[in-house]
Amino acid sequence: MIEQIKQTAEHLKRNTSITPEIGIILGTGLGGLVNEIEIANELNYQDIPNFPVSTVEGHSGKLIFGKLGGKNVVAMQGRFHFYEGYTMQQVVFPVRVMKFLGIEKLILSNASGGVNPDFEVGDLMIITDQINLFSTNPLIGKNYDDIGPRFPDMSEPYNKSWIEKAKAVAKKNNIKVQQGVYAGLSGPAFETPAEYKYIHTIGADCVGMSTVPEVIAARHASMNCFAISVITDLGVEGKIGITTHQEVQHVAKIAEKKMTHLIKEFVKEI
Ligand code: HPA
Repeated sequence: MIEQIKQTAEHLKRNTSITPEIGIILGTGLGGLVNEIEIANELNYQDIPNFPVSTVEGHSGKLIFGKLGGKNVVAMQGRFHFYEGYTMQQVVFPVRVMKFLGIEKLILSNASGGVNPDFEVGDLMIITDQINLFSTNPLIGKNYDDIGPRFPDMSEPYNKSWIEKAKAVAKKNNIKVQQGVYAGLSGPAFETPAEYKYIHTIGADCVGMSTVPEVIAARHASMNCFAISVITDLGVEGKIGITTHQEVQHVAKIAEKKMTHLIKEFVKEI
C-alpha cells in the first residue's frame, strides 16, 4: 500500500503544474468551492493510478489542482465513503497521497444531522473534536512508519488556532457558525431516534458518515485539519422528521454559499 501511495503521488507530481500546499476534501455543501478555484490541472479519479475506482457509473470524482485565495491547493471533488463498500485503506488513500505531495494542511467539509437542541437546519458547525463510531479504524493493520507512528496522538484532531481563526473570519463576514463535536459512523441508514439520543448523550453535537477516518489518517501523518459541517436535519427529540438524501442535498445546497465564502476567506489566513 505504501508503495502505491508513493507511486500515485509521483504520478501526480509529474502530471500537474503546481505544488499544492493545502488539501481540500469537498464534501456535501462545498461543491461550489470548485468555481472559486483558478484551475491549473484536473484529473479524473479513473485516470489516476491506484485511486479507488468508483462503484457508481458516471459518478467518478476529480482531483483539482489550482489557486484559491492566493494559495496553491488540491481539491477532491468527491470522496470515498465506507458505506459504499470501500475498505478503510481506500477511504483514506487520497489523504495519504496528499501527504506525499507535501501537504500539511487539510480542510474537509460534510453534511450531518444535528443532535444538539440549540442547532437549526442550515446551520454551519465548525468541528472542534470527533468521536469515531465506525466499527473500525483506518490505521488497523501494518503501520507505515514512513507516514506516522503505530499509536498516533489524537489530542488535537482539529487545529485549535485554526478554529479560532475560522470563528474570527465568520464573525468578520457576518456568517453565523456553531461549533461542536462530530460523531462519525458508517451509515448508510440514517439513525433511529434512540441512536440520535445516544449520540447526543455521549457528547456529540452532530452525526455523519464521513470525515472521521480521513482525519485519523491525516493526524497519523501529522497533517493539521480543519472541518466544517452543514446541519441538514435534526436528530433532536420532538424535531425528528423523515430524513432523505434529497433533503440533505437540498439543505446543503442552500448553505453552500456561506460555506464557500467562509472557506475561501479562511484559506487566506492559514
Ligand atoms: N445522520 C447521518 N448522516 C447524515 C445525517 C444524519 O442525520 N444528515 C446528513 N448526513
